[in-house]
Amino acid sequence: MKKVIIMGGGPGGYVAAIRAAQLGAEVHLVESEKIGGTCLNVGCIPTKAVLHTAELYQAVTKGAGLGLLADNIRVDWPMVMRRKQQVVRRLVGGVDGLLKANKVTVHKGKGVLLDPHTVEVQGAETEKISGDIILLATGSESVKLNFPGADFPAVIDSAAALSLDKVPKSMMIVGGGVIGVEFAAMFSAFGAKVTVVEMLPQILPPIDGEIAGLVRKELTQLGVQFFTDARLTEVAAQDGELCAKVVIDGVTQALPGEFVLVAVGRRARTAGIGLETVGIATERGKIKVDANFMTNVPGVYAVGDCNGIMMLAHAASAQGIAAVEHALGHEAVYAANTIPSCIYTSPEVGGVGMTEEQAKAAGMEYHVGRFPLAGNGKAMIECGGTGMVKIIAGAQYGEILGVHIFGPRATDMIAEAALAIRMEATVNEIISTIHAHPTVSEAMGEAALAVTGQAIHWPPGLKLG
Ligand code: NAI
Repeated sequence: MKKVIIMGGGPGGYVAAIRAAQLGAEVHLVESEKIGGTCLNVGCIPTKAVLHTAELYQAVTKGAGLGLLADNIRVDWPMVMRRKQQVVRRLVGGVDGLLKANKVTVHKGKGVLLDPHTVEVQGAETEKISGDIILLATGSESVKLNFPGADFPAVIDSAAALSLDKVPKSMMIVGGGVIGVEFAAMFSAFGAKVTVVEMLPQILPPIDGEIAGLVRKELTQLGVQFFTDARLTEVAAQDGELCAKVVIDGVTQALPGEFVLVAVGRRARTAGIGLETVGIATERGKIKVDANFMTNVPGVYAVGDCNGIMMLAHAASAQGIAAVEHALGHEAVYAANTIPSCIYTSPEVGGVGMTEEQAKAAGMEYHVGRFPLAGNGKAMIECGGTGMVKIIAGAQYGEILGVHIFGPRATDMIAEAALAIRMEATVNEIISTIHAHPTVSEAMGEAALAVTGQAIHWPPGLKLG
C-alpha cells in the first residue's frame, strides 16, 4: 500500500486526501489550523454567508416594488457573524467527518519537508512521517502593501473584514479585483459608503471587459464609488477615521474611510516549509510544477494556491485529484479550460473559457452572441432584468470558446457552459438543448441564437443593454 503525506487541509489538500484514500493509499494529512483552509474558514464560505444576508437585506429594504412593506428593518450584526460561524463550523465538521470516514490520519501541526519522503510535524509534539508521495497544498496569504500608515489597526485584509464587530460607516477598498468587488457589494448593501481604488484602467482585470463594465455600472448605481487608474500613496489618521491619499489622473485626492481594506491579490504560502532543504524549484514564491502537478523533485507534488496556477478553490480540488491519481498510477484528467470564475455580487458573475479580449489577442476568428436579461422573464422577476449572457463562438464551426454571464444565478448557470466547453459543443447544440421556462438559463439558448442574430426574445436591430 502506498503512503501519501499531504501538507495542508484546504480544498486542494483535503480533497486530494479523500481521493488518495479512495484509490487505496494510506493517507496522512498535516494541518496546523482548522481543516478547510482559507476557503472554508476565512474565505469563500464565510464571505458568501454574509453576502447572502446582505442580498436579502437589500431586497427587503428596497422591496417596496416587490410588494413588500417592512418597517424598522435593522441589521443584527452579531447574529450575522454568529450565523456565518455556524455555517463554517458545520462545514468544517463535515470535512473532518469525511476524512475520518475515509480513514485519513490527521496530524495537527506545521509540516516541514526534511527530505523528499519525510515530513516533520511541528505540533504540540514533534513527529516525523515518511511516505512514498508528498503533496504540498499550503495555500496562499493576502499580499500586504507597504505604504505609510499600513500598520493602522483599521487597515485590514479580507479575513479581518469578515470579523468586524459592527457594520462600518464607510470603507475604502484598495484593489478592484474579485475580493474588492465582493466586499464592495457586501458592505454597500449593508449601508456603508464604499470607495474602490484600482490601479488598472478596469476593475476585475481577468474578467471579460464588457461584463466587468456591467458590474461596475451596477455597483455604481448602488452607491459604490470607483476610481480606476488610481494609486494609493499613504493612509493617515484624521478626525477619528482614516484618510487615504490617492493619486487619480496625476492629482492627489484625500478619501476618508473608517476602514481601509487592502485586497490586491494573494501570494503562495511557501516560506519555512523546507522547499530549499529538498531543492524544490520555485518562481516568485510559487512552486513550479509540470502538467501532472509534480515538482522538479520526483514524488513531490504541489497543488492549489501554492503553485499559483489558478487561485480558486475548485481549481485546487481538481488539481489535488489529478495529482494523486497520477502519483498512484491512474490516468488523470485536468480540464483547465473548464474552470469557471464566479463573483458573488448581486446579480452574480459567472465566466468560463476565453474572454473576448483573449480570443482577440490569440488572433482567433470568432462571433459573439449577446442576450440582455431584459428579454428574460425570470431575470425580470428576480432582478428587474439586469445583466447579460455573452457567448464567444468559433467563426467556422461555432464551437463554444467562452461564456460570460452577469445575472441572477450566473454562478450556477455557468456549469452548463463549462460542460459545453468540455464536450466541445457548438452553438447549435446549445440551441437544440431545450431550456426550461421560466428560467434564467433560457438566456443561454438565446445568446447562442444571437451568435447568428436569431434571438427569439430580442427585436432584430434593437441596441443591446
Ligand atoms: P485579484 O488579483 O483578483 O485582484 C487584485 C486587484 O488589485 C487587481 O485588480 C490589481 O490590479 C489591483 N491592485 C494591485 N495592486 C494595487 C495597488 N497598489 N493599488 C490599487 N490596486 C491594486 O486579487 P484579490 O481580489 O485580492 O483576490 C485574491 C485571490 O482570491 C484571487 O486569485 C481571486 O481569484 C481569489 N478569490 C476568488 C473569489 C471567487 O472566486 N469568488 C473570491 C475571493 C477571492
